[in-house]
Amino acid sequence: MRIEAISVIPQVFEPYVSSSILGRAQKAGVFSFEAYDLREWTHDRHRTVDDAPFGGGQGMLMKPEPIFEAVEDVSARDAVRPHVVFFSPCGTPFTQAVAERLSKKERLLFVCGRYEGMDERAYTLADEVVSLGDYVLTGGELAALAVTDAVVRLLPGALGDEMSALDESFSDGLLEYAQYTRPAEFRGMCVPEVLLSGDHGAVGRWRRESSLRRTAALRPDLISSAGLSESERALVARLLEEEKESAGEGGAHGQAL
Ligand code: ADE
Repeated sequence: MRIEAISVIPQVFEPYVSSSILGRAQKAGVFSFEAYDLREWTHDRHRTVDDAPFGGGQGMLMKPEPIFEAVEDVSARDAVRPHVVFFSPCGTPFTQAVAERLSKKERLLFVCGRYEGMDERAYTLADEVVSLGDYVLTGGELAALAVTDAVVRLLPGALGDEMSALDESFSDGLLEYAQYTRPAEFRGMCVPEVLLSGDHGAVGRWRRESSLRRTAALRPDLISSAGLSESERALVARLLEEEKESAGEGGAHGQAL
């Protein structure tokens, strides 16, 4: 996969995409990443990318001309037309399902806004607009990095162990089960017996139940679309009942859910 980003602070991407798993995946040829400075497509001495909003108001907006020129120019550098993603709190919320969909594209071009927003006409260049969540960042760069990270780890060969992306939170619409490593007892907290038993069937059942318990407790909104069996639905209904009864007893993390 080829990933490119247009930004006024293109230098922020390199350290992250060259480190750890993403760095290894780039070296292995799983994906390439290139960031471009939007100011390359300005034509004035000050390399201006922003201007005041019509109608008045606080702050500055990104001008449409450099964005149009940049997207058109970068797009034309390769025969494969990129899937163009803009970032804004007004976009579609970013989820694992969106990451999976984007991971199927051959070429992604991210356009990162800064300042108080963008001239609305620039969004006509977007194939889609993505929001990282219901909060306001100072720019789209962190969103572009989060999307890059979540997408790349889904690509074949990105993770050393091909199974690990299949076995984690959201891969089946549920939160991931609780996990433990040595020591078996730490400061009085014991690893659940079943995980030490060597009984793979029992471990599998415990993990599924742990996923269901956690999801019911922490993210009940995920349950309805998770594709549960009849017996799992009954278990979740019971767990949600228990949850109601013990409401106010603190968070669900670290409690062997
Ligand atoms: N730019 C500013 N805030 C953002 C958000 N929440 N998601 C994506 N891009 C943004």
